[in-house]
Amino acid sequence: MNIIPKPKKAIEKSGRFTLSASTGYYMDTAFAAQAPFLNSLIGKSLQTPPAACAQNDAAVKFLKDETLPEDGYRLSVAANAITAYAADRGGILYAMQTLRQLFDADLHTGVESLTAPCCEIEDAPRYKWRGMMLDSSRHFWDVAAVKRYLDLMFRNKINVFHWHLTDDQGWRIEIKKYPLLTEIGSKRKDTEIHGWKSLDMEGKPYGGFYTQEEVREIVRYADARNIMVVPEIDMPAHFAAAMAAYNWLGCREIPCEVHWFFGGFVPKHMNWPDWNRSACAGKETTYEFVFNVLDEMAELFPAPYFHIGGDEAPKDEWKKCPECQKRMADNGLKNVDELQGYFNNRVAEHLKKKGKRLIVWNEALKANNLDKSVIGQYWTPQRDRYAEKYVNGGGEMILSKHQAFYFDMYYAQYPLTNTYKFEPAKVGVKEEAQNRILGVEGELWTEFIGEQEKLELNTHPRMEALAEVAWTPKEKRDFKDFMARMHHEEKALEKLGVNYAVDEVAIPKGLISRLRTERMFYTCDQHVEMRRNREYRAKQSE
Ligand code: ACM
Ligand code: ZN
Repeated sequence: MNIIPKPKKAIEKSGRFTLSASTGYYMDTAFAAQAPFLNSLIGKSLQTPPAACAQNDAAVKFLKDETLPEDGYRLSVAANAITAYAADRGGILYAMQTLRQLFDADLHTGVESLTAPCCEIEDAPRYKWRGMMLDSSRHFWDVAAVKRYLDLMFRNKINVFHWHLTDDQGWRIEIKKYPLLTEIGSKRKDTEIHGWKSLDMEGKPYGGFYTQEEVREIVRYADARNIMVVPEIDMPAHFAAAMAAYNWLGCREIPCEVHWFFGGFVPKHMNWPDWNRSACAGKETTYEFVFNVLDEMAELFPAPYFHIGGDEAPKDEWKKCPECQKRMADNGLKNVDELQGYFNNRVAEHLKKKGKRLIVWNEALKANNLDKSVIGQYWTPQRDRYAEKYVNGGGEMILSKHQAFYFDMYYAQYPLTNTYKFEPAKVGVKEEAQNRILGVEGELWTEFIGEQEKLELNTHPRMEALAEVAWTPKEKRDFKDFMARMHHEEKALEKLGVNYAVDEVAIPKGLISRLRTERMFYTCDQHVEMRRNREYRAKQSE
């Protein structure tokens, strides 16, 4: 059975169920709001979709069973009847999604009937946090593109959309109290292309932002698919777009520009020594600004979490700033790391009043004074003993290790197995701390991804691999078995017009040696595993 992510327990039986226009279905009243999904996921493939009917007449039933776990479901497909049970909305939607794959609904259009193999499935996720991040700052993805991304997340039973809305290269959400954030902060004069430090420029200005009405629409769309939207406003660093709009947010009130280059590198000839700065953590006006922004956003995003980044924050300016120094002295803060801890704690405290917990990237965990309610997100490629200490010492964590979950990287550098074979123990999380791992999340940074095709190429089949890490019991995971199911899934992606990286390709002579140059990797559309490259190279030289 070609189900991704692989269910916890699934037994295939002999025989098949046939779905046609004459099949009646019944949906428990508790799931009435989910009923329209049945035809948008499966019925759309039939000339005439099945119709709702009374429970006694229904061959397909969706019923409530309070005893099932969160997002779990039980599904029985017999030759003459289908019964699905779930305790909640997520579970019933996921039962439908599994049926969509069992019927191969996306491979057909306008047919009289579809069939699915008889089976018994008992399914539930391993982790509650099954996330995908999208960077809408470096490149802007319009409402239609975001919805498409959410559709593909739902297809893989992924339930957290981490939305990176601001960075040095653009502020992308309308904040009514601070109109310059979008008037100035959403626009940049140019865009670096061709990879880190290339200094090649696209040669035209870039901009875009979401209105609050559009944000509401996306949050509703996600919610209907059991997806929670967790916004991120990156601070105190990665904050140049905000400081370009309101330069009083910085320690020194000097001019600031929205960045048009990427990757923490500005060549000397640009003569801009002050490009990499953090917001001032001393002035009370910074806190007022942050709280006002969070207050507006809390109205738009009902999720009980809020991400404030906190990564890669330079602190040299804080060491010289009288306001920052006074803040440290007044609060007995021993160093600038603790000043960031103080900043984060104040934000966490403010969010707590709104029923939200703070999430930060792992660098921010270095502060000794950080409130234990803060959730860390471990991304750094290098080992971070502070992050390991945080989770092993009682803190909660989301795992997004660079080598496994940075989907902006090319496959030649991070092969698919890096994602598929990921386990928390690999990044220093002790066995007894593993219940504090909320889950895993894939990161789609978009510095060098500006088109949907490239976005999808980098995302699939990695999103599917991540889904299996997040959902399937560890002992059920097998890469070869996954790839076999993935090759079937590719047919559905093709029908849906979704781009993906392929692995079974004829490698032209000489490609492997050319692949050694980074520029080539960026345009390479294959997840040729490195081991296979080496094998291939050995064969070539025989
Ligand atoms: C990050 O990649 N700086 C979170
Ligand atoms: Zn300062």
